[in-house]
This record gives sequence, structure tokens and C-alpha cells, in this order.
Amino acid sequence: MSKSLIVLGSQWGDEGKGKITNYYSERADVVVRYQGGNNAGHTIVFNHQTYKLRSIPSGVFNPKIKNILGHGMVINPKSVITEINSLKELGFECHNIYISDRAHVLFDYHIEIDKLNEEALKEKKIGTTKNGIGPAYYDKVARVGIRMCDFVSSDFKEIYRFTLEKKNIQIKEMGGTPIDFESSYQEYQKVADTLRPFVCDTIDLLKQERKAGKKILFEGAQGALLDVDFGSYPYVTSSNPSSGGALCGSGIGMNHIEEAIGIVKAYTTRVGSGAFPTEFEDETSHYIREKAHEYGTVTKRPRRIGWLDLVALNYSATINGLTGIFLTLIDILSGLKEIKVCTSYQLNGKEITTIPAKDSDFACCVPQFKTLPGWEEDLSHVTCFDELPENAKKYIEFIENYVGIDVIGFSVGADKNQTVIRKEVF
Ligand code: GDP
Ligand code: IMO
Ligand code: MG
Repeated sequence: MSKSLIVLGSQWGDEGKGKITNYYSERADVVVRYQGGNNAGHTIVFNHQTYKLRSIPSGVFNPKIKNILGHGMVINPKSVITEINSLKELGFECHNIYISDRAHVLFDYHIEIDKLNEEALKEKKIGTTKNGIGPAYYDKVARVGIRMCDFVSSDFKEIYRFTLEKKNIQIKEMGGTPIDFESSYQEYQKVADTLRPFVCDTIDLLKQERKAGKKILFEGAQGALLDVDFGSYPYVTSSNPSSGGALCGSGIGMNHIEEAIGIVKAYTTRVGSGAFPTEFEDETSHYIREKAHEYGTVTKRPRRIGWLDLVALNYSATINGLTGIFLTLIDILSGLKEIKVCTSYQLNGKEITTIPAKDSDFACCVPQFKTLPGWEEDLSHVTCFDELPENAKKYIEFIENYVGIDVIGFSVGADKNQTVIRKEVF
């Protein structure tokens, strides 16, 4: 059994990472979020309660598990406090949260700039979650970001004054409203006081835990096709949700990662702009959207619906070094006469099985489908592979054969109990 497992999104996000991370967290000692911020919305359902997490790792509900917000994240401190307070109201003490002192802080000016950037792009907008994620990562790479270690230090006031002055010039130039230094500093100082006890050297913490033989789970946010390096650029997020991000964003060494499980939705969804070859809009997509309630956890936008794209999944398996696939929301496909899966694209009269770099080429890819027979049976009570209808088994086997990776488990409902493990990996 492995001691370290990455759970990541293999598509464009919202694959059910929160549910599966929370499921595996029962066997973990540490859960680490390694990238992104409160653009994520991870839904977890157990004991008839639904929880939605944004920045806090999905192991928070168990006080014995250490939950790390790694330095690869951009952390909105106000949003983290809101999350902690609502968890406390529900009876979770949150003493088990550790925030990296190297993580970058996401401020109100990042959110303002995100909104102004999107407005300026007009019809070319990325369709971001407007949480300031891109501008915060921009500052990190431009080496003008403020990190948690600065935020909770005594020189924060001067650092913030210096930075806000420059940001306000940019905001004014873009037609936005500048942020008042004195009042926002006062507010952030209180926020910093609240978060200070949580901030620590999480690289060292992770090392100590690993050396003590503890089991470590890495929770990806977003998905591989939203990765700034591998995704459908520029319609991506600004971080590395793929497995490489787990190394850069947490401080674990590559020789200590044993398994990378790709969460794969049994069909595909996307929110925001960008090419999406298998997207379709008809009564079947409407049926899927309403049955699965495919509306953004964060922005409430209706998610775009498409068939499962095996070309994209193969790509995702390659770049992430996937060791297993976890198939989610397969219950949603019950009741469909036929189910399509994309096995190649036609681009400029040629058949291809790779994703073109240019988004406009990707948008011109015509998916070539294999049509598989559907099934009527409700899957929500299925507890093992053998209980699945024959056509659902064939669907799973078709995916395994195409990608050459085992479907090590599948999920037949939002509740933690509606999870079927075929092969134990962690
Ligand atoms: P994440 O961002 O990857 O954690 O996914 P989201 O929480 O944004 O979206 C996944 C949605 O599907 C949530 O509403 C989950 O409660 C729900 N969900 C997860 N797995 C299953 C499943 O197997 N079946 C059904 N019907 N819903 C699921
Ligand atoms: P989880 O973790 C789905 C999308 C946005 C937009 C693009 C850039 O819940 O799967 P950003 O605000 O990150 O700059 O937006 O990325 N996006 C997500 N889509 N699930 C998410 O998170 C997402 N986080 C960002 O819709 O297209
Ligand atoms: Mg989500």
C-alpha cells in the first residue's frame, strides 16, 4: 500500500476531487492542497450533510488529520477565515490547519484587477471565477507578491503600503476604484492576527511527517486541462493542477510520490471560455446538467456539457503519470440509450489523437465518436463492479483499454458511502 497519493482532476475541473480526497483522507495522516486558491469549489457529502470547501483541504473534518495549505497556493486570507468560521459553526474545531509561510497572499486588489482584466478582454474573456487568481500568480512570478511570512510579520504595514501604491496606479489606469490604504490595512492586520497561529514552515512539517512514516495525500484543485503549462492556453487557470504541481507546491521530493490517481468524470464538463470539442447542447446535455446539477460551486454558472473525451484523457494520463483512474458520476449516465466517447479528432482532413497547442485549432477539432449502448438501471446502490449492468461494465472497460490504465474505483453518488473501490492503492 502506498504512503503518498496525488488525487487530481484529469479534465477541466469539478470531477469530484473533493469527494474522493475526503474518501481517501480516512486512511491519511496529512492532506495537502498544493495549488490554486478559492477558485476551487470542492463538494463533500457525508452523514446527510453537504460541505463546500474552497481553500481548505478535504481532510479538515477529521481532527487527527493535518491539513496543509501548501506554498503553491495563492491564499485569500479573508476567504480562509470565512471558511474556518463556517466549519467551526458546524462543530469542526479547525485546529488541524497549517498554512505555508511561503504561500502568496491574495489581496482585494488582485480581485479588482481580475475583474478589470476580464472586462477589458470583452468577448475574449477567460471566464475566470473573478477571485483574483491570475493577478496573484502574476505577482508571484513577477517577484512582487506578498507572502504569508510577510503578511504575519511586523513589517507588513510598510510592505503593504509600498505594494498597494503601485497597484492603485494600475487600478486607476484600468478605470477601477483605488483601494484606501489605511482602512484596508487595518482590516488586513486583524485578519493577519487571526491567521498567524496557523502559519508555519509546512515544508519542514511535511518532511517530519514523511520521515515518521505518515501517509500523505495531495489534493489537486481545478484540472489538468486548466493547467497553465499543459491546458488549453490561454483559457486556463494560472497554476499547475497537474502532478508536477504537487512537487513544486508542497515541497515533497519526486522520489516520495508513489501514486497519482486521475479523477475522471464519466462525461465532461467545463466552465469558462475555451475550446471544448465534445461539447453538445441538446436534450441529453440538459438531462445530464439537471440530473447532476452541473452548476458552478463558486460562480453558479451552468457548466458546459460534453461526452467523455478519451484523447484528452490520454493526454492527461501522460502529463500526470497517472497510475490509476477514479471514475465519478457514472450514475448520471443511467437512462441514456446511447453514450458517446471521443476516440480521435479530425483536424484539416487529418485524423489526430493529440491536442493541438493553439486553442483556435483545438476549437476546429471535430470529435470522432464511438457510440456505446447505455443502460437503464439506477447505479446509486451499486457496491461492487459485478453489480453493474453489463453495458456500464463495458463502458468502464472501454476506457481502461483505450487509456491503458486501470479504473481503480468508481463513484455512484455524491455521498461518501457511494464509492466503490476495485483496487486498493493507499
Ligand atoms: P470538485 O471540484 O472536483 O471537488 O467537484 P465539485 O464538487 O465542484 O463537483 C462535483 C459534483 O458532483 C458535486 O456536486 C459532488 O457532490 C457531485 N458528485 C461527486 N461524485 C459524484 C457521483 O459519483 N455521482 C453523483 N451523482 N454526484 C457526484
Ligand atoms: P475545482 O477545483 C472548474 C476555471 C474558470 C476559468 C479558468 C480560469 O472546483 O475543480 P481562474 O479563476 O482560475 O483564473 O479561472 O479556470 N476554473 C475552474 N473550473 N473547476 C474549478 O475548480 C475551477 N477553477 C477555475 O472557470 O475557465
Ligand atoms: Mg469544483
